[in-house]
Amino acid sequence: MKSKDICLSTFVFIPHNWAKKFQMSDGIRNQYSDLGVEGFYCKEGANYSNPHFSQVEELLQKNEHRIDYSQVLDFCCGSGEVSFVLEQMGYLKTIASDPFTQEAYKQRMGKKCQSWTFEDIVKGKLVGTYSAVVCSFAMHLCADDLLFPLSYQLFQHTPHLIIITPHKRPELEKLEGIHLDFEDFCLTDRGKKVRLRAFRSTF
Ligand SMILES: C[S@@+](CC[C@H](N)C(=O)[O-])C[C@H]1O[C@@H](n2cnc3c(N)ncnc32)[C@H](O)[C@@H]1O
Repeated sequence: MKSKDICLSTFVFIPHNWAKKFQMSDGIRNQYSDLGVEGFYCKEGANYSNPHFSQVEELLQKNEHRIDYSQVLDFCCGSGEVSFVLEQMGYLKTIASDPFTQEAYKQRMGKKCQSWTFEDIVKGKLVGTYSAVVCSFAMHLCADDLLFPLSYQLFQHTPHLIIITPHKRPELEKLEGIHLDFEDFCLTDRGKKVRLRAFRSTF
């Protein structure tokens, strides 16, 4: 049994309004560096909920006129933050994937998600065609040297890659064949920007 399988059994669902429990603080960033990202989500995934859920919701709603949500892949779905918002907006065909939060996703959304990792996608394991791939608060976790092959593979399955991020990273427009289509942002209570950045490719 892989360590991933062992840790999955410990996941439980935490509603997003418990988010204050789990702020993406310097302490958590330190744990990323102590445990590694995978180790962190195996150990702490049971407590995960995005403290910026309302910003994710606002950005998805504000940009409905220019993103086709009819068949989204919610990539690195966590406990289903993006899927939940889309469902509330009436979009019922979202497919989700996350290697570490399958039970949490099932608890919130009442259905299973896939388990594709960044590395799986790079190896060509992604299946399906999507109107958009939405990756919220996660693609900055991908190793720099995987960003191009990961994006390339995602663009084989969608015309539109939507990144929601509290950082400037990942700057996919710096990669050959990828351009920024549009961007938007909203502010947290503390005045920090959460960005929605939409990309297209010439691949
Ligand atoms: C900060 S959470 C974001 C979750 C959710 N999308 C949201 O908006 O709250 C980052 C997610 O990336 C996932 N993740 C970490 N490493 C990964 C990898 N190598 N491949 C795919 N997903 C990964 C974690 O399981 C976690 O759910």
